[in-house]
Amino acid sequence: MTTLKQKTVLVVGGGSGLGLAVARLARDQGARVIVASRRAAERLDAAPGGGDLHALAFDIGAGQSAVQALLDAVGEIDHLVVAVRPAITAAPLAQVDEAEARGAFEIKFWGQYRLARAASERLRQGGSIVLTSGIAGERIYPGMSTMALINGATETLCRMLAVELAPLRVNAVSPGFLAPKPAEMEAAAQRFPLPRLGAVEDVAEVYLHLMRSGYATGTVSVVDGGARLL
Ligand SMILES: NC(=O)c1ccc[n+]([C@@H]2O[C@H](COP(=O)([O-])OP(=O)(O)OC[C@H]3O[C@@H](n4cnc5c(N)ncnc54)[C@H](OP(=O)(O)O)[C@@H]3O)[C@@H](O)[C@H]2O)c1
Repeated sequence: MTTLKQKTVLVVGGGSGLGLAVARLARDQGARVIVASRRAAERLDAAPGGGDLHALAFDIGAGQSAVQALLDAVGEIDHLVVAVRPAITAAPLAQVDEAEARGAFEIKFWGQYRLARAASERLRQGGSIVLTSGIAGERIYPGMSTMALINGATETLCRMLAVELAPLRVNAVSPGFLAPKPAEMEAAAQRFPLPRLGAVEDVAEVYLHLMRSGYATGTVSVVDGGARLL
């Protein structure tokens, strides 16, 4: 197992939620961490423990030139983590707004696709990419088709890149339902084998493991308290 000391970790979408937890944990393990999102500086200023993370403004939906500008600003990278969440309205497939679904694909799927392809040329030897999928897709939940399709495509992208970019390592994390969530979801989580919603810190550990583990590639690591089993 390698260490993250002195490594450069770029966390795209790291201004809140899961990405912020990954950024903090990587920083605590000695990495130089750069957080990129549209309002990264503002978000980090407001986040406990966010102040000493380096922020860059970046819109993952702004196309290839924005990706190149971000990577130019960061310089050489050891690990790239992507954890962006697009806005999606829950609705039965027949009623999904197609423009919204395409917009969500643009942010989460095509965003990860573009970043991974461009970063692969910049990552130092021994580096890795960690993408984010999610439990929707692994399990089919009514009203969550857009995220299910994006997550399925993301996991296929992970396996594809792991083969084509080897020996660069490419992995993905599939989180379950993370707090905070509405009360009815909190109640539903009492039926999970581990009867609670996940904490972002529970899942952040797995991103760190995949960065450090020199023999993990093409892996989708599920961290869901067993929710997918029910
Ligand atoms: N939370 C859950 O229960 C859960 C469950 C399964 C999977 N996941 C997955 O885990 C990942 C992280 O989820 P989360 O709940 O932690 O997310 P979150 O906190 O809601 O959002 C993560 C970040 O995405 C950034 N973002 C959104 N649009 C962006 C854009 N166009 N360009 C750059 N950054 C953008 C936002 O920063 P800015 O606003 O500053 O851009 C935000 O800080 C997502 O892929 C999500 O689908 C989450």
